[in-house]
Amino acid sequence: MIQINPKNSELKNIIILATGGTIAGTGEEGKTTNYTAGNIDIEVLVSSVRNLDKIANIYGEQIANVDSNDITMNHWLTLANRINELSKQDDVDGFVITHGTDTLEETAYFLDLTVKTDKPVVLTGAMRPSTATSADGPLNLYQSVALAASDLSRGHGAMVVFSDGIYSGRNVQKINTFKTNAFNSIEFGCLGYMRDNIPFFFNKSIKPHTIYSQFDVTGLTELPKVSIAYFHIDADPSIIDYFAQNSEGIVIAGAGSGTFSSNWLEEIRNLETKGIPVVRSSRIGNGIILTDSTIDKYSNCIPSYTLSPPKSRILLTLALTKTKDYSEIKRIFAEY
Ligand code: SIN
Repeated sequence: MIQINPKNSELKNIIILATGGTIAGTGEEGKTTNYTAGNIDIEVLVSSVRNLDKIANIYGEQIANVDSNDITMNHWLTLANRINELSKQDDVDGFVITHGTDTLEETAYFLDLTVKTDKPVVLTGAMRPSTATSADGPLNLYQSVALAASDLSRGHGAMVVFSDGIYSGRNVQKINTFKTNAFNSIEFGCLGYMRDNIPFFFNKSIKPHTIYSQFDVTGLTELPKVSIAYFHIDADPSIIDYFAQNSEGIVIAGAGSGTFSSNWLEEIRNLETKGIPVVRSSRIGNGIILTDSTIDKYSNCIPSYTLSPPKSRILLTLALTKTKDYSEIKRIFAEY
């Protein structure tokens, strides 16, 4: 842990846990494409943000420096356990995690379910590398630190700040491949807005998170393996069998309301006797998936409600740390 700016006793103490991504990326001066993510360290990253020392005392720790496509469950366990440990200190007021945007929503949801504190936990990143003309990282980081230092931010679970918006870890989605306004929660809306360093909250997720979540990864060194099978016309059903050989649970990125072909259903039914839960999510990314009487009569099929396939995978992974009981996993999906 390094102290980045001189301590001012009037200000809150915020810890930045850096993991890499485009926000720490560098490339050809001025350009926004063809750069390397996760290339500068926390001290250089923070030094690019003007006036950060006016809003908080900043401490930094480099957890990783990778493109977020290379984030693993080990990084998640490290982050969750580190936040849980540091949050017990009275002189720690909040956390910011810098992260690549490609998988940011997954890490945000994992932390939403596994950190055991109501101190603010804010994730952010950037769509343009630090060397781009008009890089978006500095303002995102400034606003994330401001949000983590605000008394208004407690009890919202893990949040994402991006392009002046505040989003819940549960509902946030990346919605654009290159524009700076790359995150949204579509029909659920944002939690609020950042204007400069001031948060304005308007919504709150009612789903269990952080200290209200039943999941606890303390002491865990690995997590159950859950795979995602993407359905499309003519999709090969043998992928289900393949995943069943090496996974403890399967999430289907189904069509429409979490549906798939009759030959996929045949394969999925076969898993009933093997006790492998299959969560039906949708590749649509919007709307709700409820019990379907023709599919969910098989006792291993569980609707994902509003969770996307990657977020269903996270919830199923954590559910499997607690139980293999189908009805209990079904209850967890209904509740979370
Ligand atoms: C990454 O996810 O690490 C690369 C892309 C980005 O951060 O925008």
